[in-house]
Amino acid sequence: MTNNPVDSTVLQQQAKTRQEIETAITQMFAPEDEGLRHALVAAKEGGLPEIQISAIQGKLLQLLATACNAHKILEIGSLAGYSGIWLARALPTSGRLITLEINPKHAEVVRGSFAAAGIADRTEVRVGQALELLPHLESEAPFDFFFIDADKAPYPQYLAWAIRLSRPGSIIVADNCIRRGAALHETEGMNADTAGLVQYNKHASGDARLVSLALAMDEDYTDGFTISVVRQA
Ligand code: DHB
Ligand code: MG
Repeated sequence: MTNNPVDSTVLQQQAKTRQEIETAITQMFAPEDEGLRHALVAAKEGGLPEIQISAIQGKLLQLLATACNAHKILEIGSLAGYSGIWLARALPTSGRLITLEINPKHAEVVRGSFAAAGIADRTEVRVGQALELLPHLESEAPFDFFFIDADKAPYPQYLAWAIRLSRPGSIIVADNCIRRGAALHETEGMNADTAGLVQYNKHASGDARLVSLALAMDEDYTDGFTISVVRQA
């Protein structure tokens, strides 16, 4: 950043341009339907944290789930149910989204939002600690698509589980993998959340079973997804 008034005007103009582009892409490619808007209102009324992904990110999840012909989707961390609705809309009627949520009150809000969005028949909210629930999912594997957006410290373990529960061609997406750059390199004294994200990116980028890329693509391009595809053996 700078104190130079000319430079700061340029920066403001760039930020404004990026915002206009974001708005135009959202309106053209990722408009929110009634179900998505309802989920946001229900989450706010329920006191859930307002940290859901953007509409463009939701549409990207839907696009990627469609690209891998997803019939079975596993989400780790339900939050407001917002990402779950985007994802479930990529499923055929016989498809299934299982979403893991640690907070039983939040899980109830999410179930209500799934019902209001007309996707109750193909979704299931399982309540508990993800690391305790994941071993029980082996009998239901393989999953075609994974979205990880839960507590950050265990992200590397969530990735290991996703790979274990995948098939060649499965897609694994994790939110918050940039964090203004903090998730991309180790720093002394970093907290457990940041350490989990750094390890996640190290594993995702270095694992020979995956093709991966981190993409800065949230509202202000300072955070985003790491996307991995499981290679053919
Ligand atoms: C936080 C968690 C998220 O998943 C997110 O997208 C943004 C913030 C958080 O815990 O602060
Ligand atoms: Mg997140």
